[in-house]
Amino acid sequence: MIPWGIKLSRLELDVTKPEQIARICAEKKPSAILCLSSLDLRKSEQNPLEAYKVNVLGVYHAAQEAQKRNIPCIIISSGAVFNGESEQEFTEESTPNPQNIYGQTKYIAELMVRSICPKHLIIRTGWLYGFRENPSFIDKMIQMAREGKEIKATYDQKGSPIYLSDFMQALEELIRTDASGTYHLVNAGGTSAVELMHEVLSLTKSTSLLHEVTMQELNSQGPARSASEVLSSTRYPMRHWRDALRSYLASQR
Ligand SMILES: NC(=O)c1ccc[n+]([C@@H]2O[C@H](COP(=O)([O-])OP(=O)(O)OC[C@H]3O[C@@H](n4cnc5c(N)ncnc54)[C@H](OP(=O)(O)O)[C@@H]3O)[C@@H](O)[C@H]2O)c1
Repeated sequence: MIPWGIKLSRLELDVTKPEQIARICAEKKPSAILCLSSLDLRKSEQNPLEAYKVNVLGVYHAAQEAQKRNIPCIIISSGAVFNGESEQEFTEESTPNPQNIYGQTKYIAELMVRSICPKHLIIRTGWLYGFRENPSFIDKMIQMAREGKEIKATYDQKGSPIYLSDFMQALEELIRTDASGTYHLVNAGGTSAVELMHEVLSLTKSTSLLHEVTMQELNSQGPARSASEVLSSTRYPMRHWRDALRSYLASQR
């Protein structure tokens, strides 16, 4: 296990303020900077300027500090940097082409970290679930299935589910082994939210009614998105999403 050190809230450290990053690093002397701050897809679309400040400028300041200290800078990016048809999958070698503000900011952040900080780790990941606090959209749908509530899920976009416990194990291993460069950390095999929820309903024997909708029907104001944000990895292949989901649901019993 890696001693994870200090996790700071936005009140304790605002990444858009380089002097705060410098002061805290001088005090704590970290062995790496893991930058988790971000505005998500929805917030980025609503407030592009703030998205650029946090997702791009914040990462720039973190990378500058890491470079000065000769320590690794680690960032978490997303399948939203890619664009493609629904059957397409993207490896670490695929060329990004982001379709929305969130994806653009994440891609620019990747480019900056690569150019500023020789010791860098760029992790692209997908639909994380398995949170105890701050449930993700998958966590919320699983909870609704357990409660027998009606669920709406999209069938016209594919992504890569990733169980938080698998993600953390992989990230720890990469950090422990001083890995560098770009890695896709996702459970193998792309899926739609509908297909994922069919599996959840079957495994939990839920009686929930599942409504199959399009992204447009679910959120007509939502940003443009690639039909596929499915990631696959040539560098760190992980178990299939169905196996990971089964483990997660079994651990919940
Ligand atoms: N969750 C996923 O499925 C997923 C998938 C792909 C990539 N990622 C990436 O993984 C990282 C972590 O994701 P997450 O889901 O944990 O994000 P999240 O739940 O949206 O949390 C983002 C955090 O950033 C903080 N923040 C915002 N502005 C800040 C600032 N100026 N200075 C310091 N902190 C600031 C927020 O604080 P407040 O709450 O106080 O605003 C919040 O704690 C992000 O880089 C995200 O893009 C996540």
